Amino acid sequence: MRTTYCGLVSEKLMDQTVTLMGWAHRRRDHGGVIFIDLRDREGLVQIVFDPDRAETFKVAESVRNEFCVKVIGRVRARPDGTENAGLTSGKIEVLAHELEVLNASVTPVFPLDDENLSETVRLTHRVLDLRRPQMQKNLMLRYRVAIEVRKFLDEQGFIDIETPMLTKSTPEGARDYLVPSRVHDGQFFALPQSPQLFKQLLMVAGFDRYYQIVKCFRDEDLRADRQPEFTQIDIETSFLGEAEIRAITEAMIRTVFRKTLGLELPVYAEMTYAEAMFKYGSDKPDLRVKLQLTELTEVMKTVDFKVFSGPATTPGGRVAALRVPGGGEMSRGEIDAYTEFVKIYGAKGLAWIKVNDAGKGREGLQSPVVKNLHDAAIAEIIARTGARNGDLIFFGADKAKIVNDAIGALRLKIGHSEFGRNHGLFEDKWAPLWVVDFPMFEYDDDAKRWNAVHHPFTAPKDGHDELMKTDPGACIAKAYDMVLNGWEIGGGSVRIHRADVQARVFEALNITPEEQKVKFGFLLDALQYGAPPHGGLAFGLDRIATLMTGAESIRDVIAFPKTQRAQCLLTGAPSFVDEAQLRELHIRLRNTTAAA
Ligand code: AMO
Ligand code: AMP
Repeated sequence: MRTTYCGLVSEKLMDQTVTLMGWAHRRRDHGGVIFIDLRDREGLVQIVFDPDRAETFKVAESVRNEFCVKVIGRVRARPDGTENAGLTSGKIEVLAHELEVLNASVTPVFPLDDENLSETVRLTHRVLDLRRPQMQKNLMLRYRVAIEVRKFLDEQGFIDIETPMLTKSTPEGARDYLVPSRVHDGQFFALPQSPQLFKQLLMVAGFDRYYQIVKCFRDEDLRADRQPEFTQIDIETSFLGEAEIRAITEAMIRTVFRKTLGLELPVYAEMTYAEAMFKYGSDKPDLRVKLQLTELTEVMKTVDFKVFSGPATTPGGRVAALRVPGGGEMSRGEIDAYTEFVKIYGAKGLAWIKVNDAGKGREGLQSPVVKNLHDAAIAEIIARTGARNGDLIFFGADKAKIVNDAIGALRLKIGHSEFGRNHGLFEDKWAPLWVVDFPMFEYDDDAKRWNAVHHPFTAPKDGHDELMKTDPGACIAKAYDMVLNGWEIGGGSVRIHRADVQARVFEALNITPEEQKVKFGFLLDALQYGAPPHGGLAFGLDRIATLMTGAESIRDVIAFPKTQRAQCLLTGAPSFVDEAQLRELHIRLRNTTAAA
């Protein structure tokens, strides 16, 4: 029926007759001539209706925004001086011969080019929202990414194998979404948090190279970069080590950027987890921000100021500074606002020093804390941070985790701010990075136990086996994350392929042999049949697409996302179900009034 897309009508089709289908984006009545910008997924084209064709003109008069119409017309040059930069081709237009309304539309809830829509409105009326050119572009780019991933992996000998959605809980660290079993009274499936165990089983089964673009489900607190159901590009290979797995997956991301955006990613930075925490307070540093933390724990051990010396002399404590070049011009109001900001991360305060004149010693400094610091400590602060006149130095002192979270977040906040951009503290570029050598375990203070940092199937570094027993905190894993512009876009590891090592990791995690059998018996069993050395990685497709489109949130690259409160505003899910449905599933609600 259609000869081309609206958005593809160009000078190449000059003087030809085209048939177009699309939606009336806007209609303008210019006293005697009617213009309709006709839109489809490829873009817009201007259609002109001339009163000479009375019948067609009359139909055009009846057309309103979002009517679905068919137009037959001739491509012609626009009269001089009327080029419209908003259209794909501002140089041409289509003079309509025929117009048919395929379907009328009620008045849209919002004009499609309204830039100030609330997300609630957008998600409630998602169909209209998805019609917006930006959303069409986002989802098409996402598709291109997926296609290029498939092409690349196929060429490298990876095969796509599906794994179950109704399965047993896997420990990626989030809460599971459960599905009650009708057949088995009181029993539940879990939706997969990732295909982790299945892809390992596929390696044991000899498939050698697996991938899948697959939905994963995690019931966790949501943020701009998190959804309860999201999509992984999930990859696993046999007989390759850490460096080789990273090389293949990096080549994949490079290829995707080249093929979809025509862009060559720069050389990846690489740093250990320890270095990332030390310099940036984060395991996913945004290297576009040109600020670094300065370590001061040793220096502050000897000061007579409890706020600093306390954490400095307590195991697991940290004192760190953040030098902000040019920060001396910040007002008290701004500093107070940053002090409030770091409290979100558990910081108790935010000490600071303005360096007015470094040559004058403490006289040249303006600060609520210098009076508490001895001369040597002040000299060390200036020397180590490299502070110059006109700079501001912030301080965090607390448990290392709080200092890292708070000062790491402050680093980003300042770097991304107007101030940061105006002072050259932010460089607009692609900043890819590998973070390697993650610790195997982290201590959970509340639960008083060790948890796996990546997941419990991650192999320890060679020679670190013994540390699992003697010093779990010092045990390093063969685990790596890919980070782009401060977002963790992928993570993976070399796996344990021997049942005895796996059992020892479970032991370090305080998972009893009985529990091991119940939860992971099938894995331990499989590992006994000549399991090959294997490893892999999973990328977050939604996150990659978000970065590539420049969207603010991953909800902008997902057709039908959930809100921050894990609801679908379009369908109204989750929702109550019938008593009969519950009965069939052997479920009685605890709070029966909720259903009313
Ligand atoms: P991990 O838990 O690090 O590893 O997840 C891999 C990648 O998936 C993305 N991601 C998410 N994206 C959106 N919303 C979420 N809630 C969400 N959670 C994770 C991130 C992350 O880097 N089985 C291992 C991988 C492996 O070891 O091979 C795993 O799932 O981009
Ligand atoms: P105080 O002695 O509590 O009034 O604090 C003096 C200064 O130290 C104030 O500027 C506080 O914001 C700051 N401060 C307090 N606690 C901390 C902390 N844990 N880390 C960094 N600065 C702090």
